[in-house]
Amino acid sequence: MAKKVQFVETVLRDANQSLIATRLPFEKFEPMLQTIDKAGYYAAECWGGATFDVCLRYLNEDPWERLRKIRKAMPNTKLQMLLRGQNVLGYSHYPDDFVKLFVQKAVENGMDVIRIFDALNDVKNLKVAMEATVNAGAIASGTISYTTSPVHTHAKYVEMVKELKEMGASTICIKDMAGIMGPQEAYDLVSAIKDAVDMPIDLHTHSTTGLAFMTYLKAVEAGCDIIDTAISPFSGGTSQPATETLAYALRQLGYEVELNDECTTKMADYFKGIRDEFVADGTLMPKAMATDTQCLTYQVPGGMLSNLLSQLKQMNALDKFDEALAETPKVRADLGYPPLVTPTSQMVGVQAVRNVLDGERYKTVSKEIKAYCRGEYGTTPAPINAEIKAKILGDEKELEGRYADTLAPIVEDTRKKLEGIARSDEDVLSYIAFPNLAEKFFEERKAKEENEVTYTIVEA
Ligand code: CO
Repeated sequence: MAKKVQFVETVLRDANQSLIATRLPFEKFEPMLQTIDKAGYYAAECWGGATFDVCLRYLNEDPWERLRKIRKAMPNTKLQMLLRGQNVLGYSHYPDDFVKLFVQKAVENGMDVIRIFDALNDVKNLKVAMEATVNAGAIASGTISYTTSPVHTHAKYVEMVKELKEMGASTICIKDMAGIMGPQEAYDLVSAIKDAVDMPIDLHTHSTTGLAFMTYLKAVEAGCDIIDTAISPFSGGTSQPATETLAYALRQLGYEVELNDECTTKMADYFKGIRDEFVADGTLMPKAMATDTQCLTYQVPGGMLSNLLSQLKQMNALDKFDEALAETPKVRADLGYPPLVTPTSQMVGVQAVRNVLDGERYKTVSKEIKAYCRGEYGTTPAPINAEIKAKILGDEKELEGRYADTLAPIVEDTRKKLEGIARSDEDVLSYIAFPNLAEKFFEERKAKEENEVTYTIVEA
């Protein structure tokens, strides 16, 4: 029997995040939800990552409401989200009670698969979220943040997979956020994991370097079960490779692909128009669509590349792009080779820009990099350069153990604080995650409702 390969559609989350900084509002993709639902995907990645932040910050959308609406429109397809371990959807560690409640509410509001990663691959930071996912009855997808460095070996990754299995993972995701994984590496790593554990493997990569199609093919040859792709108009460049292209190629090679071509054609037609709108208003920049082989040296993930660009654009320093890009792997090596993924990608990226613009390395350091050096993000893959650490920390003490263990519970106090303002635990969670944004959102929601009420009265 032909081996089956399943697909995760990323247009609602990663493709949208990688190409247009997550600016796709609900009403723009709403007309396609039923079509996506009928297309036969393993799952639709539609929440988490930057969607939560951007919904509140730029789109004036309640992220929870978005999730419920997607759930309602897509009863037949598993909904998947990306969760940053102990960081949940934010950029630093949260207390355990918040992590647990967040996961529980995500599942209650419709989430089926939670892909859980840690920027440093420190399993201490995954444990609470993994357990909460299993307890809530959802699929915990234990995730490797893939990177290459002198200290990242396949043996180490396999060891991590075994720990993820222990923690209750029912699938394993290899998350190659920068699109740097080559076909041979994919073949070898998938084979190594398949030899060690009998679990479905999902490979996630980006088209940034142009390797992705080849990488997926070789991963599938080695037994990879699920691949992440984007419908063609939102594919390529810093996004995922195209869904329809891979379906076509894999079928030709004799694999079983359950996707419905009529549905994917309809989706492609529709999203072409949406893409053109974002091209016209400048949100989708040509650079994001280009194949960039420099990433093989710099290991800069898609989202980071577009952030770096917009950061420099804001500072009127676009001419420093190449220099900042070249500084990035140096900063990464100094910091013990963290995989570049949120939040380490932002931290390393901002530091690289600072080092270049200041003309002196580590002259200015963000509070996040300081916290990182104190150990608040977990154990780094390799030790941080001692000299640089001393320069950054001065007399400050380093942390021992798990940072979240030092954090006091936050949920109950926040519930009390928001009495009369928050209408649900979901509101409380939004507030803990992004207090200023949530506050602004609550006010606007109230104002909008009051306007509606006035309007109704006048009408009557
Ligand atoms: Co990604």
